[in-house]
Amino acid sequence: MRLQELGLSDFRNLAQVQIDTDAPFVVFHGPNAQGKTNLLEAIYGLATLKSFRTTRVRELIRWGCTHAQVRGRVDDGQLTRHFKLHLDPKGRRGEVDGKTPKALGSYFEGIRAVLFCPQDVAIVREGPDIRRRFIDRAAFTASSSFLDVAMGFKRLLSQKGALLREDVPDPIQLDVFDAQLAVAGARLVERRRAVIEELREPFVTLHQRISGHGDATLRYRTALGEGSREDLVGRYSELLAKSRKDEVRRGMNMVGPQRDELVLRIDDRPARAYASQGQTRSVVLALKLAELLAARARGARPLFLLDDLSSELDRFRRGNLVGLLEELEVQVFVTTTDPSLVLAGAQGEVRSYAVKDGAVGGAEVASTH
Ligand SMILES: Nc1ncnc2c1ncn2[C@@H]1O[C@H](COP(=O)(O)OP(=O)(O)O)[C@@H](O)[C@H]1O
Ligand SMILES: [Mg+2]
Repeated sequence: MRLQELGLSDFRNLAQVQIDTDAPFVVFHGPNAQGKTNLLEAIYGLATLKSFRTTRVRELIRWGCTHAQVRGRVDDGQLTRHFKLHLDPKGRRGEVDGKTPKALGSYFEGIRAVLFCPQDVAIVREGPDIRRRFIDRAAFTASSSFLDVAMGFKRLLSQKGALLREDVPDPIQLDVFDAQLAVAGARLVERRRAVIEELREPFVTLHQRISGHGDATLRYRTALGEGSREDLVGRYSELLAKSRKDEVRRGMNMVGPQRDELVLRIDDRPARAYASQGQTRSVVLALKLAELLAARARGARPLFLLDDLSSELDRFRRGNLVGLLEELEVQVFVTTTDPSLVLAGAQGEVRSYAVKDGAVGGAEVASTH
């Protein structure tokens, strides 16, 4: 997958941008607060219809403007499509080749991106919900049909939650919810487990390459246990029946995949408690690169967006990283304050753009070999 051209209008501090991005490596460089991350946010927005920095559309629209737009021409190896993201105070809307797709899934089929940014260290450092979000996003990148599975479960959970908050919840209605939840929850666990299974091997290998020491492992821990779909449904039904009294007393959902955990360990110790800063970064980077490898095994090549290369890894690791990214054969967009770091490691064509005060300069094309 190759984003060949990128256009922006009034997205954050970027008033008008139209650039050729048809190269395996695209670098946005410049001092801080110029608009480099905003460019990645725009590409991420085009691929996911979301931002990784805010849930408020308003913040993405340039101050003083009423709407914003991101446009991209994407070649997926077979077809060239034109994607468009419209943002206005009413919300966001995606368009493919001039049309609003009937089903969102078909929009996401044609464009995918994996992001690695400094804030991602939270995946290791913070609570389990952020790790569940990582799994769910990875599962969505793997297949956009995951969205329906996740949303279906979430809807049931919140409806049952509302019922549980009533003074005397109707037990028959609770039975109906529990039966539906058991099936929806089992499907969710199955999908999450499948994606973690896909990531497991590449994660272990990549982590070794990136960090050079320490064995990292990855496991999905669920209250629903192992086995077939029927086993999972059965186990979840049992758990729900057992915790019925407790749920009614507390007025909230108590068991299910909304409490599952992605267990990350280094040398058999929980990474959250023991990983150093460097180890934390290596683990997160390995997770993101594992997503790319797994996608490749499925025949997909998502765009890789790497925010702030300069602060992420030391010089030695960066050199490794650029080489590794070239092996993965995905298109990479990097932001950095120091473009020489990227140029030093890259073998192929690099297109780099200076970003200054919301304007993107002319391309400097460097072919190091
Ligand atoms: N909606 C907006 N309209 C105009 N400028 C914005 C908007 N949102 C953020 N900015 C500006 O964008 C700049 C930050 O851009 P960013 O891409 O994060 O910088 P960096 O180059 O360091 O990655 C800041 O100067 C900020 O004030
Ligand atoms: Mg930045």
